[in-house]
Amino acid sequence: MRLLVTGGAGFIGANFVHQTVAEHPEVHVTVLDALTYAGNRASLDPVADRIEFVHGDVTDAALVDGLIARSDAVVHFAAESHNDNSLADPWPFVHTNIIGTYSLLQAVRAHDVRYHHISTDEVYGDLELGEPGRFTEDTAYNPSSPYSSTKASSDLLVRAWTRSFGIRATLSNCSNNYGPYQHVEKFIPRQITNVLDGVRPKLYGNGLNVRDWIHVDDHNRAVWAVLERGRIGETYLIGADGETDNRTVVESILEILGRDRDEFDFVTDRPGHDLRYAIDPSRLRDELGWRPRYVDFRAGLEATIGWYRDNEQWWRPQKAATEAAYAAAERGSGPEHRVRPAGSVRVPPGPRVARFREYPAH
Ligand code: NAD
Ligand code: TYD
Repeated sequence: MRLLVTGGAGFIGANFVHQTVAEHPEVHVTVLDALTYAGNRASLDPVADRIEFVHGDVTDAALVDGLIARSDAVVHFAAESHNDNSLADPWPFVHTNIIGTYSLLQAVRAHDVRYHHISTDEVYGDLELGEPGRFTEDTAYNPSSPYSSTKASSDLLVRAWTRSFGIRATLSNCSNNYGPYQHVEKFIPRQITNVLDGVRPKLYGNGLNVRDWIHVDDHNRAVWAVLERGRIGETYLIGADGETDNRTVVESILEILGRDRDEFDFVTDRPGHDLRYAIDPSRLRDELGWRPRYVDFRAGLEATIGWYRDNEQWWRPQKAATEAAYAAAERGSGPEHRVRPAGSVRVPPGPRVARFREYPAH
């Protein structure tokens, strides 16, 4: 099988490529990645001699068409993926997540190539804190942020191309991933590397927002299950019963690294911050027999902390610029939105005006 993996130099894509090389050695992998700030060639170093790497953009229709013409299947991970960046500048999200998916769909349609679309549970919006109920494949789309709305848009394109043009596509919507090779802008790596640097972790709002954490390897095994055995046209939710509030995650990181559990700060809340995500993965389990291997979040977190401790050379180059961007965003949001010590009064959310980085004009 010749498999095209877009976004294979990013967090989940790189882990997917590692897993594919190890567990599906008969597959020939080609990675297509634009190497944005979030892509890192070094993440593919361990498998560099086993794969083909193409440096290019998923919105480049001619390039994508040529690559898909010589593939049997494509797994589409490439995306702008960070909510905070999407609030600062939505355009790259519209461009990559929507136009990029469109160019892939047109190519798989032209060449009748099997397509799997990687998406997020954030397309469903959020759930109330402390109430029962989880997302299912039938939950109505209700995205909150520019990031999640562009992912929702791309999902809808896939569904329409499947129905109208008969492309052989499946979709999966996964909850929050953690594990090695995740960019230090994201919550868990940001706080791990802060603590390793002797800096206090930063919790948005009151720290009670809940995410349904899943280890990246469990996500990727589920993607393989869908690719091999999923029903064409179907959506599969991926989650591992990992609901945990942000404050508990930070306290665990501090504890594992031998610090006091209250050595963190509350900072300005994210505008539109989704309260809670939770996945009902029944379809994936019952139909495809998938089960997570990382059932103890704390143990997975310890392993992830160990990876960041042992691989400073991987994350160090991004750390200072990432924290400078966060600091600029914090400064831009006004004096009432500064860092607050743990336990102080909650400050209402305000707009973030600083840009995280410059993108080309459109
Ligand atoms: P990431 O930001 O770590 O990696 C994205 C990769 O895509 C990078 O290598 C980047 O260089 C590449 N890329 C970006 N724009 C591109 C373009 N125009 N052309 C080619 N390559 C481009 O993201 P991630 O966390 O690995 O997420 C991968 C996918 O999984 C995304 O589609 C995301 O929506 C989805 N997802 C992520 C999570 C999560 O918790 N991180 C959860 C569910 C779903
Ligand atoms: P994030 O990793 O950005 O993922 P997502 O927005 O897709 O859920 O954030 C996870 C949670 O952590 C989210 O509730 C926002 C919160 N958060 C913090 O409290 N502090 C931080 O520094 C960051 C980056 C996120």
